[in-house]
Amino acid sequence: MMSFEKIQQQIRKLKEEKDAVILAHYYQIPEVQKLADHVGDSFALSKLAAELPHQMILFCGVSFMAETAKTLSPEKIVLLPVADAGCPMADMASEEDVIKLKAEHPDAAVVSYVNSSTGVKAQSDICCTSANAVQVIRSLPHPKIIFLPDENLGSYAAEKVPEKEFILFNGYCPTHEEVMAIDVKIAREENPDAILLVHPECRSEVRKQADFVGSTGQIIKYVSQSEHNHFIIGTEQGIIHPLQEKHPDKKFTMLSPGFLCPNMKKTTPKDMLRSLENLTVNIELEEELMNQARKPLIRMLEVK
Ligand code: 13P
Ligand code: SF4
Repeated sequence: MMSFEKIQQQIRKLKEEKDAVILAHYYQIPEVQKLADHVGDSFALSKLAAELPHQMILFCGVSFMAETAKTLSPEKIVLLPVADAGCPMADMASEEDVIKLKAEHPDAAVVSYVNSSTGVKAQSDICCTSANAVQVIRSLPHPKIIFLPDENLGSYAAEKVPEKEFILFNGYCPTHEEVMAIDVKIAREENPDAILLVHPECRSEVRKQADFVGSTGQIIKYVSQSEHNHFIIGTEQGIIHPLQEKHPDKKFTMLSPGFLCPNMKKTTPKDMLRSLENLTVNIELEEELMNQARKPLIRMLEVK
Protein backbone atom coordinates (compact mmCIF):
# COMPACT_ATOMS: atom_id res chain seq x y z
CA MET A 1 0.00 0.00 0.00
CA MET A 2 1.30 3.45 -0.91
CA SER A 3 2.01 5.66 2.15
CA PHE A 4 0.32 9.04 2.65
CA GLU A 5 3.71 10.76 2.17
CA LYS A 6 4.30 9.00 -1.16
CA ILE A 7 0.80 9.94 -2.38
CA GLN A 8 1.39 13.51 -1.24
CA GLN A 9 4.70 13.64 -3.16
CA GLN A 10 3.13 12.35 -6.37
CA ILE A 11 0.16 14.70 -6.06
CA ARG A 12 2.54 17.65 -5.65
CA LYS A 13 4.44 16.66 -8.79
CA LEU A 14 1.28 16.22 -10.86
CA LYS A 15 -0.15 19.51 -9.60
CA GLU A 16 2.92 21.34 -10.88
CA GLU A 17 3.00 19.53 -14.20
CA LYS A 18 -0.69 20.14 -14.85
CA ASP A 19 -1.06 23.56 -13.22
CA ALA A 20 -3.72 22.17 -10.90
CA VAL A 21 -5.12 23.46 -7.62
CA ILE A 22 -6.89 21.32 -5.03
CA LEU A 23 -10.07 22.59 -3.37
CA ALA A 24 -11.72 20.64 -0.55
CA HIS A 25 -14.88 21.12 1.48
CA TYR A 26 -14.76 21.13 5.29
CA TYR A 27 -16.72 17.84 5.33
CA GLN A 28 -13.93 15.90 3.57
CA ILE A 29 -11.87 13.41 5.58
CA PRO A 30 -8.82 14.97 7.36
CA GLU A 31 -6.29 13.36 4.96
CA VAL A 32 -8.02 14.98 1.97
CA GLN A 33 -8.19 18.35 3.74
CA LYS A 34 -4.43 18.05 4.46
CA LEU A 35 -3.69 17.56 0.75
CA ALA A 36 -5.82 20.51 -0.36
CA ASP A 37 -4.50 23.95 -1.27
CA HIS A 38 -7.72 25.54 -0.03
CA VAL A 39 -10.36 24.17 2.34
CA GLY A 40 -13.62 26.07 2.68
CA ASP A 41 -17.40 26.23 2.68
CA SER A 42 -19.41 26.14 -0.55
CA PHE A 43 -19.40 29.91 -0.92
CA ALA A 44 -15.65 30.38 -0.43
CA LEU A 45 -14.90 27.47 -2.76
CA SER A 46 -17.18 28.80 -5.54
CA LYS A 47 -15.47 32.17 -5.30
CA LEU A 48 -12.04 30.58 -5.43
CA ALA A 49 -13.04 28.41 -8.39
CA ALA A 50 -13.99 31.56 -10.29
CA GLU A 51 -10.91 33.57 -9.29
CA LEU A 52 -7.95 31.18 -9.20
CA PRO A 53 -5.68 31.32 -12.27
CA HIS A 54 -4.95 27.56 -12.54
CA GLN A 55 -5.78 25.53 -15.66
CA MET A 56 -7.14 22.66 -13.61
CA ILE A 57 -9.21 22.30 -10.43
CA LEU A 58 -9.35 19.05 -8.47
CA PHE A 59 -12.57 19.46 -6.48
CA CYS A 60 -12.84 17.27 -3.39
CA GLY A 61 -16.47 17.55 -2.43
CA VAL A 62 -19.69 16.47 -4.10
CA SER A 63 -20.78 16.77 -7.73
CA PHE A 64 -22.81 20.00 -7.49
CA MET A 65 -19.68 21.76 -6.18
CA ALA A 66 -17.53 20.56 -9.10
CA GLU A 67 -20.33 21.46 -11.54
CA THR A 68 -20.54 24.95 -10.03
CA ALA A 69 -16.77 25.37 -10.46
CA LYS A 70 -17.00 24.22 -14.10
CA THR A 71 -19.95 26.53 -14.78
CA LEU A 72 -18.04 29.49 -13.39
CA SER A 73 -14.83 28.59 -15.25
CA PRO A 74 -15.75 26.59 -18.35
CA GLU A 75 -12.25 27.03 -19.79
CA LYS A 76 -10.72 25.09 -16.88
CA ILE A 77 -10.54 21.34 -16.49
CA VAL A 78 -12.54 20.49 -13.35
CA LEU A 79 -12.03 17.05 -11.85
CA LEU A 80 -14.23 15.28 -9.31
CA PRO A 81 -12.17 12.40 -7.85
CA VAL A 82 -15.14 10.07 -7.23
CA ALA A 83 -17.87 9.79 -9.90
CA ASP A 84 -20.74 8.95 -7.55
CA ALA A 85 -20.00 11.52 -4.82
CA GLY A 86 -23.36 13.26 -5.16
CA CYS A 87 -25.72 15.21 -2.92
CA PRO A 88 -29.14 13.61 -2.35
CA MET A 89 -30.67 17.01 -1.60
CA ALA A 90 -29.45 18.41 -4.93
CA ASP A 91 -31.13 15.46 -6.66
CA MET A 92 -34.51 16.18 -5.05
CA ALA A 93 -35.43 19.14 -7.28
CA SER A 94 -35.53 18.93 -11.07
CA GLU A 95 -35.51 21.57 -13.77
CA GLU A 96 -39.18 20.67 -14.42
CA ASP A 97 -40.03 21.39 -10.77
CA VAL A 98 -38.69 24.93 -11.18
CA ILE A 99 -40.52 25.47 -14.48
CA LYS A 100 -43.76 24.35 -12.84
CA LEU A 101 -43.29 26.60 -9.79
CA LYS A 102 -42.48 29.57 -12.05
CA ALA A 103 -45.68 29.00 -14.02
CA GLU A 104 -47.68 28.89 -10.77
CA HIS A 105 -46.00 32.01 -9.33
CA PRO A 106 -44.93 34.18 -12.30
CA ASP A 107 -44.29 37.21 -10.07
CA ALA A 108 -41.83 35.43 -7.78
CA ALA A 109 -38.01 35.40 -8.00
CA VAL A 110 -36.41 31.95 -8.04
CA VAL A 111 -33.58 31.56 -5.54
CA SER A 112 -31.75 28.26 -5.77
CA TYR A 113 -29.38 26.95 -3.15
CA VAL A 114 -26.09 25.96 -4.84
CA ASN A 115 -26.82 22.41 -3.62
CA SER A 116 -28.80 21.90 -6.83
CA SER A 117 -28.29 20.63 -10.36
CA THR A 118 -26.98 22.83 -13.16
CA GLY A 119 -30.43 22.52 -14.80
CA VAL A 120 -32.12 23.95 -11.69
CA LYS A 121 -29.61 26.80 -11.53
CA ALA A 122 -30.21 27.54 -15.22
CA GLN A 123 -33.89 28.15 -14.42
CA SER A 124 -33.13 30.43 -11.43
CA ASP A 125 -32.85 34.19 -11.02
CA ILE A 126 -30.09 33.95 -8.46
CA CYS A 127 -28.22 31.30 -6.48
CA CYS A 128 -27.24 31.35 -2.81
CA THR A 129 -25.27 29.29 -0.34
CA SER A 130 -25.98 28.75 3.34
CA ALA A 131 -23.53 31.62 4.00
CA ASN A 132 -25.42 34.28 2.05
CA ALA A 133 -29.07 33.14 1.57
CA VAL A 134 -30.43 35.98 3.71
CA GLN A 135 -28.37 38.73 1.98
CA VAL A 136 -29.20 37.31 -1.46
CA ILE A 137 -32.96 37.35 -0.72
CA ARG A 138 -32.79 40.85 0.79
CA SER A 139 -30.96 42.09 -2.32
CA LEU A 140 -33.95 41.22 -4.54
CA PRO A 141 -36.75 43.70 -5.24
CA HIS A 142 -39.34 40.89 -5.44
CA PRO A 143 -41.76 40.57 -2.51
CA LYS A 144 -42.29 36.89 -3.38
CA ILE A 145 -39.56 34.21 -3.40
CA ILE A 146 -39.52 30.63 -4.69
CA PHE A 147 -36.78 28.90 -2.71
CA LEU A 148 -35.37 25.47 -3.50
CA PRO A 149 -34.40 22.73 -2.89
CA ASP A 150 -33.79 22.99 0.89
CA GLU A 151 -36.93 23.67 2.91
CA ASN A 152 -34.93 24.11 6.12
CA LEU A 153 -32.58 26.76 4.72
CA GLY A 154 -35.61 28.36 3.04
CA SER A 155 -37.57 28.52 6.28
CA TYR A 156 -34.51 29.92 8.06
CA ALA A 157 -34.27 32.69 5.43
CA ALA A 158 -38.04 33.27 5.67
CA GLU A 159 -37.73 33.83 9.44
CA LYS A 160 -34.96 36.39 8.82
CA VAL A 161 -36.83 38.17 6.01
CA PRO A 162 -40.44 38.19 7.29
CA GLU A 163 -41.49 40.99 4.94
CA LYS A 164 -41.32 38.61 1.95
CA GLU A 165 -43.60 35.75 0.98
CA PHE A 166 -41.90 32.39 0.45
CA ILE A 167 -42.83 29.37 -1.62
CA LEU A 168 -40.63 26.59 -0.26
CA PHE A 169 -39.78 23.40 -2.09
CA ASN A 170 -39.77 20.36 0.21
CA GLY A 171 -36.19 19.12 -0.27
CA TYR A 172 -33.87 18.38 2.63
CA CYS A 173 -30.41 17.11 3.50
CA PRO A 174 -30.78 13.55 4.83
CA THR A 175 -27.76 14.07 7.11
CA HIS A 176 -29.01 17.27 8.78
CA GLU A 177 -32.68 16.26 8.77
CA GLU A 178 -31.99 13.29 11.02
CA VAL A 179 -31.02 15.45 13.97
CA MET A 180 -33.95 16.42 16.24
CA ALA A 181 -34.86 18.51 19.27
CA ILE A 182 -34.29 15.49 21.54
CA ASP A 183 -30.62 15.41 20.42
CA VAL A 184 -30.31 19.04 21.50
CA LYS A 185 -31.90 18.26 24.87
CA ILE A 186 -29.47 15.39 25.51
CA ALA A 187 -26.41 17.33 24.31
CA ARG A 188 -27.33 20.36 26.44
CA GLU A 189 -27.83 18.18 29.52
CA GLU A 190 -24.52 16.40 29.00
CA ASN A 191 -22.60 19.59 28.17
CA PRO A 192 -24.17 22.42 30.20
CA ASP A 193 -21.12 24.69 29.70
CA ALA A 194 -21.12 24.48 25.88
CA ILE A 195 -22.41 26.82 23.18
CA LEU A 196 -24.54 25.23 20.42
CA LEU A 197 -23.61 26.08 16.80
CA VAL A 198 -25.73 24.62 13.99
CA HIS A 199 -26.01 24.69 10.21
CA PRO A 200 -29.18 26.20 8.66
CA GLU A 201 -29.88 22.86 6.94
CA CYS A 202 -30.98 21.61 10.38
CA ARG A 203 -34.67 21.35 11.22
CA SER A 204 -36.31 24.44 12.67
CA GLU A 205 -36.79 22.66 16.05
CA VAL A 206 -32.97 22.34 16.24
CA ARG A 207 -32.13 25.80 14.85
CA LYS A 208 -34.47 27.53 17.28
CA GLN A 209 -32.48 26.21 20.24
CA ALA A 210 -29.06 27.11 18.86
CA ASP A 211 -26.82 29.94 20.07
CA PHE A 212 -25.61 30.48 16.49
CA VAL A 213 -26.80 29.38 13.05
CA GLY A 214 -24.39 29.59 10.10
CA SER A 215 -22.60 27.93 7.21
CA THR A 216 -19.58 25.74 7.91
CA GLY A 217 -17.25 28.69 7.27
CA GLN A 218 -19.32 30.94 9.55
CA ILE A 219 -19.27 28.32 12.33
CA ILE A 220 -15.46 28.22 12.11
CA LYS A 221 -15.31 32.03 12.18
CA TYR A 222 -17.68 32.15 15.17
CA VAL A 223 -15.42 29.78 17.14
CA SER A 224 -12.32 31.86 16.26
CA GLN A 225 -13.97 35.02 17.57
CA SER A 226 -15.57 33.46 20.64
CA GLU A 227 -14.19 33.50 24.16
CA HIS A 228 -15.98 30.26 24.98
CA ASN A 229 -13.97 27.07 25.03
CA HIS A 230 -16.56 24.34 24.60
CA PHE A 231 -18.89 24.03 21.59
CA ILE A 232 -21.59 21.57 20.55
CA ILE A 233 -21.34 21.27 16.76
CA GLY A 234 -24.54 20.82 14.78
CA THR A 235 -23.27 19.95 11.34
CA GLU A 236 -21.34 17.23 9.50
CA GLN A 237 -18.44 15.83 11.53
CA GLY A 238 -15.71 16.67 8.95
CA ILE A 239 -15.72 20.22 10.34
CA ILE A 240 -14.17 18.98 13.60
CA HIS A 241 -10.79 18.57 11.86
CA PRO A 242 -10.29 22.26 10.91
CA LEU A 243 -11.83 23.38 14.21
CA GLN A 244 -9.49 21.24 16.31
CA GLU A 245 -6.46 22.17 14.15
CA LYS A 246 -7.13 25.88 14.57
CA HIS A 247 -8.10 25.62 18.24
CA PRO A 248 -6.26 22.76 19.97
CA ASP A 249 -7.13 24.34 23.33
CA LYS A 250 -10.91 24.30 22.71
CA LYS A 251 -13.31 21.40 23.06
CA PHE A 252 -15.80 20.29 20.39
CA THR A 253 -18.66 17.88 20.99
CA MET A 254 -20.83 16.56 18.14
CA LEU A 255 -24.55 17.32 18.55
CA SER A 256 -25.28 13.82 17.25
CA PRO A 257 -23.00 10.86 16.42
CA GLY A 258 -25.06 10.34 13.22
CA PHE A 259 -23.91 13.62 11.70
CA LEU A 260 -22.14 12.10 8.72
CA CYS A 261 -22.55 12.71 4.98
CA PRO A 262 -21.62 9.41 3.27
CA ASN A 263 -21.01 11.14 -0.05
CA MET A 264 -18.54 13.62 1.42
CA LYS A 265 -16.62 10.69 2.87
CA LYS A 266 -16.13 8.84 -0.42
CA THR A 267 -12.99 10.69 -1.54
CA THR A 268 -9.60 9.36 -0.40
CA PRO A 269 -6.03 10.54 -1.13
CA LYS A 270 -5.69 7.61 -3.54
CA ASP A 271 -8.74 8.81 -5.48
CA MET A 272 -7.19 12.26 -5.70
CA LEU A 273 -3.98 10.85 -7.14
CA ARG A 274 -5.84 8.64 -9.62
CA SER A 275 -7.98 11.58 -10.66
CA LEU A 276 -4.95 13.77 -11.41
CA GLU A 277 -3.17 10.94 -13.24
CA ASN A 278 -6.08 9.94 -15.47
CA LEU A 279 -7.98 13.26 -15.57
CA THR A 280 -11.12 11.61 -14.22
CA VAL A 281 -13.93 12.47 -13.67
CA ASN A 282 -13.61 15.39 -16.04
CA ILE A 283 -16.79 17.45 -15.53
CA GLU A 284 -18.50 18.13 -18.84
CA LEU A 285 -21.72 20.11 -19.14
CA GLU A 286 -23.73 21.33 -22.07
CA GLU A 287 -22.50 24.80 -23.08
CA GLU A 288 -25.92 26.47 -23.33
CA LEU A 289 -26.95 25.06 -19.94
CA MET A 290 -23.74 26.37 -18.35
CA ASN A 291 -24.24 29.79 -19.92
CA GLN A 292 -27.72 29.95 -18.38
CA ALA A 293 -26.59 28.66 -14.98
CA ARG A 294 -23.62 31.05 -14.83
CA LYS A 295 -25.86 34.13 -14.67
CA PRO A 296 -27.52 33.34 -11.30
CA LEU A 297 -24.15 32.22 -9.90
CA ILE A 298 -22.46 35.47 -10.92
CA ARG A 299 -25.39 37.48 -9.55
CA MET A 300 -24.86 35.70 -6.23
CA LEU A 301 -21.13 36.46 -6.24
CA GLU A 302 -21.94 40.15 -6.84
CA VAL A 303 -24.24 40.48 -3.80
CA LYS A 304 -22.49 42.55 -1.14
P1 13P B 1 -21.72 25.01 3.43
O1 13P B 1 -22.40 25.92 2.48
O2 13P B 1 -21.84 25.47 4.84
O3 13P B 1 -20.32 24.76 3.02
O4 13P B 1 -22.48 23.62 3.42
C1 13P B 1 -22.60 22.85 2.29
C2 13P B 1 -23.34 21.64 2.55
O5 13P B 1 -23.42 20.76 1.73
C3 13P B 1 -24.01 21.52 3.82
O6 13P B 1 -24.56 20.26 3.96
FE1 SF4 C 1 -25.71 17.22 0.45
FE2 SF4 C 1 -26.30 17.05 3.02
FE3 SF4 C 1 -24.10 15.93 2.13
FE4 SF4 C 1 -24.32 18.60 2.27
S1 SF4 C 1 -24.30 17.15 3.97
S2 SF4 C 1 -23.48 17.42 0.57
S3 SF4 C 1 -26.48 18.86 1.73
S4 SF4 C 1 -26.21 15.37 1.57
